[in-house]
Amino acid sequence: MNNSKANKNKPRLRFFEDAEGQQHIAEADQYLYQRPAASHNLVVIGTGTIGQEHMRVATLLGRAQIHGIYDTQQQSMDIAEANFARYSDKPLLRYRDLESACNDSAVDALFICTPNYTHFEILQTAIKSGKPIFLEKPMATDLQDAAATEAMARAYSSFIQIGLQYRYKAQYVEAFHEALSRTSLGKIKTISLSEYRPPFLDKVEQWNKFNAKSGGTLVEKCCHYFDLINLLAQSQPVKIYASGGQAVNFVDFERDGEKSDIDDHAFVVIDYANGTRANFTLNMFCHDFSEELVVTGDRGRLTTKEVFNFHQQQGSVASVAIEVGELGPSKTMDVTYPALIEQSGHHGATYFEHIAFVDQLEAKSVSAATPLQGLWSMIVASAAQASMASGGAVDINQFMAANGLADYLNN
Ligand SMILES: NC(=O)c1ccc[n+]([C@@H]2O[C@H](COP(=O)([O-])OP(=O)(O)OC[C@H]3O[C@@H](n4cnc5c(N)ncnc54)[C@H](O)[C@@H]3O)[C@@H](O)[C@H]2O)c1
Repeated sequence: MNNSKANKNKPRLRFFEDAEGQQHIAEADQYLYQRPAASHNLVVIGTGTIGQEHMRVATLLGRAQIHGIYDTQQQSMDIAEANFARYSDKPLLRYRDLESACNDSAVDALFICTPNYTHFEILQTAIKSGKPIFLEKPMATDLQDAAATEAMARAYSSFIQIGLQYRYKAQYVEAFHEALSRTSLGKIKTISLSEYRPPFLDKVEQWNKFNAKSGGTLVEKCCHYFDLINLLAQSQPVKIYASGGQAVNFVDFERDGEKSDIDDHAFVVIDYANGTRANFTLNMFCHDFSEELVVTGDRGRLTTKEVFNFHQQQGSVASVAIEVGELGPSKTMDVTYPALIEQSGHHGATYFEHIAFVDQLEAKSVSAATPLQGLWSMIVASAAQASMASGGAVDINQFMAANGLADYLNN
């Protein structure tokens, strides 16, 4: 048998391949333990929390390798490099500036993992490289830059993938399958999604404590959930009402004389053009993480839960339940990813996002977030923030026209 020609799709048994007691298996005898050859070189721009997650996950997946890194902070690069050395023996290049990070001919793709307020400017340099780009969510801090990014992506010779990876969380993969492919629930009528979690974590220069640098809580954090709701509704929003504010977190936080203005809770109601109604609840002053989705159609109801109790130092548990009463079989499933993948970042979602990115590099069709979907997640988030500020419901037609986005209606 020629082990080197092993099928890329063969099962990986990393628990065994990395186990101490299996290291005596010579390379020539490795079949299940054989690591795929990394066929793509990546550069990570911004080596903070998520930049390092991408470095770790790319290495775990093994189909691409991290070739180099760039960050404006020496400390972020030092820490990223030291952490990288714990799980990889590959050399890591450090670029001296953004231009050189974007234009290394040995590199196949760029990952932009810097704070939200830097995305648009960094993209202007990155896009000149002609290389495929992974751009973290939210794609920008305001709708004008987001729409300009979407237009740039449409005209780009390569592709831009947006970091809206919650669609790859185990329970949402299954929810999409049941609700959209199997249509187990019939016609979807209502969608209810919630996140309860602890406050925003500390960040380099605390950019996420301020609306101007983050785009606001609903843009920065909840674009993930609006992306999921948009995908399930399969329609454009027409009216949005939201109520929320800053009740508990960072009320006494100041940096350089500026007070934090970041919201920590919200209730958002969305009406879609096809009649689907949705709501989203955010609360960021809880002790542990939980997400719940309830989708109800004219034939059944689906509930998903993800519970992550980090105080107990347990991995997350994801489940899906479907109730169809007398119409057929109902079921309840644990859908948690294998621990190795679940613990690699965002409960395994980042791992599957990387599979999609590498597939896209290899010209395969994928379900990863497009700039247009990224823009729509920001439209919902920004309209909800506008509703919170005015106290009234936002008509999406008027909101789009006022923001110069009328061309996107019915697209
Ligand atoms: N997809 C997700 O689930 C997810 C999760 C976390 C963060 N994010 C997004 O990733 C981005 C980064 O978040 P984070 O949590 O890693 O923040 P972070 O503060 O931990 O790291 C950001 C890094 O970018 C560096 N940086 C700042 N300006 C730069 C510039 N102009 N050029 C190069 N480096 C620069 C900082 O020095 C820092 O090391 C944000 O857009 C955030 O919304 C996405």
